[in-house]
Amino acid sequence: MKVVNTIRELDEILVTERQNGAQTGFVPTMGALHEGHLSLVEQCVAENDICVVSIFVNPTQFNDQNDLATYPRTLEEDCRMLEEKGCDLVFAPSEEEMYPEPDTRVFALGRVAEVMEGAHRPGHFNGVAQIVSKLFAIVKPDRAYFGEKDFQQIAVIREMARQLGFPARIIACPIRRESDGLAMSSRNVRLTPTQRQNAPVIAKTLKESTTFVAGKSVEEVKSFVINTINQVPEMEVEYFEIVDGNSLESITDWSETDFPVGCITVYCGPVRLIDNIKY
Ligand code: PAJ
Repeated sequence: MKVVNTIRELDEILVTERQNGAQTGFVPTMGALHEGHLSLVEQCVAENDICVVSIFVNPTQFNDQNDLATYPRTLEEDCRMLEEKGCDLVFAPSEEEMYPEPDTRVFALGRVAEVMEGAHRPGHFNGVAQIVSKLFAIVKPDRAYFGEKDFQQIAVIREMARQLGFPARIIACPIRRESDGLAMSSRNVRLTPTQRQNAPVIAKTLKESTTFVAGKSVEEVKSFVINTINQVPEMEVEYFEIVDGNSLESITDWSETDFPVGCITVYCGPVRLIDNIKY
């Protein structure tokens, strides 16, 4: 496995690989890798001739400077895990390498970038589109892998790639969970022992809510989820929406979609956790 820090080094290797007919798979990450990330890498290794993983904590997508400052950085351990999974190439650029000057591009990604996370984290998806479009332009992947934990992010990436004409196939991979159901996240390490003990209520409640769909209205299911989680100490639901999984528009009646997805964000103390479930 090779680790490179510059666009030029990465490009040199990939140009040669492409000339030899290699199919390139790509997994963009911000590091602090866990089994969730690694499941994407496994699929990428299995489906491509060469697997490229980027590790870059992208400052332009953080709307909370404290979140950026405290984001875990574990490059050495990340590389050890990636090598074990059969990753071929790690791209770990500096901030100057990715942003030699400020990126002033403003994307118009439509409704999928405006609802939910888009409304609660202003500028977040614009920053995601900035970095992922740069990375796609450099790596030129045949396939790019994203986790369904960030369900809305996948829709935003698809729209960005469509608008800019990137031919990469965007592949959505299932959420990896801890044994108690908590969706794996690099931010989970910030939870206190008590918060960590309480956090699985999110996944548990979402799962339980799927059993209500047959008999209850969308509004009733939403109230159940929000009220159940809000009763737990230190937990506060920021939003819970049941949306059409393609348009991400909220529904008020189950008949409005054949692909309903519940998307939630919960503050657990100061830690912002997200999760979702397909109904
Ligand atoms: P990051 O949070 O590091 O996540 C990298 C990828 O891993 C994303 O596609 C994310 O959805 C996926 N992932 C994280 N936790 C997961 C889990 N429990 N199960 C399955 N997949 C999981 O998402 C980002 O970085 C950034 O926004 C990025 C796309 C790299 C742009 O900076």
